[in-house]
Amino acid sequence: MFDAKTFIENSLVEIKTAVGNSKVISACSGGVDSTVATYLVHKAVGDQLVAVFVDDGLRREGEPEFVVRILKELKIKTRYINAKEDFFKTFKGKTDAEEKRKAFRDKFYTTLGKVAKEEQIQFITQGTIKADVLETVKGIKSQHNVLEQIGINPEIYGYKILEPLRELFKPEVRMVGRELGLPSEISERMPFPGPALSLRILGEVTQEKAVIVRKATEIVEQETTGIGAFQSFAVLHNDKATGIKNGNRLYGNIITVRIVNSSDAVTAFAVKVPYDLLERISKRITTEIPTVVRCLYDITDKPPSTIEFE
Ligand code: XMP
Repeated sequence: MFDAKTFIENSLVEIKTAVGNSKVISACSGGVDSTVATYLVHKAVGDQLVAVFVDDGLRREGEPEFVVRILKELKIKTRYINAKEDFFKTFKGKTDAEEKRKAFRDKFYTTLGKVAKEEQIQFITQGTIKADVLETVKGIKSQHNVLEQIGINPEIYGYKILEPLRELFKPEVRMVGRELGLPSEISERMPFPGPALSLRILGEVTQEKAVIVRKATEIVEQETTGIGAFQSFAVLHNDKATGIKNGNRLYGNIITVRIVNSSDAVTAFAVKVPYDLLERISKRITTEIPTVVRCLYDITDKPPSTIEFE
């Protein structure tokens, strides 16, 4: 049986020993994994840690403000990095899922590398968990934060990596979050992938597409609050379809809604949600987002699909 209290005690000792008097930055997206990792390291080394929120322009509505506020409340020194333009530039012309994942990873680590140099740190903390490592090793997807398994030495980016949650699965990370006394808006948070909305925009990732999928995501999240799903979100297709808006033909966008249950993200099941909930989501998405003419629901389990589309 996993014991969060013992895990925390042991981790604090391990982190202190590894870090010594060095400085650390922690890449914190506000998700449960990276926030628990950040808080744990903060508990171990205090102000030797600076949390870094990289704004890639692909976060959910209100996310940057939310994360900065939470970190402030936790009394963790924080830097907000606006890298939106840089990220959209890096995605230009890239349409293949793995190519996009690699582009995100490179931009993410070079951005952090710059902050690391400015802050003169030796360590970067990140919230990598066991499922990230397993999927990358199996070659299913190169998770943006798993480096060694794909033959990349983190030192090429200019620092050492500290991953206190590497041996844990998501339910255990939540237990650690609760034991640490983190607010439930963090410990019970729905998982959101590191590469953010880039995994939910099929084809080239652009600023315009991000606006559409961000709004659709907000609607899906609002309508599914409290139903207890593991993850619920929207995906923007690269294809278009014929529709009718204001009495005129519109060759418009297609959104897929995905609502899954899972315990560890290794397998997942499409949720049999009530039909009227789907209808409500579809009506809102197609009326509140002018370019969307079609809304689909994904009924595929993992496997054979994966949770994210890219
Ligand atoms: P998949 O799509 O592989 O997703 O079935 C499994 C879980 O992992 C999340 N996910 C990621 N998280 N970096 C992350 O931090 C990534 O590159 C990444 N890819 C997928 C996904 O949201 C789901 O919870």
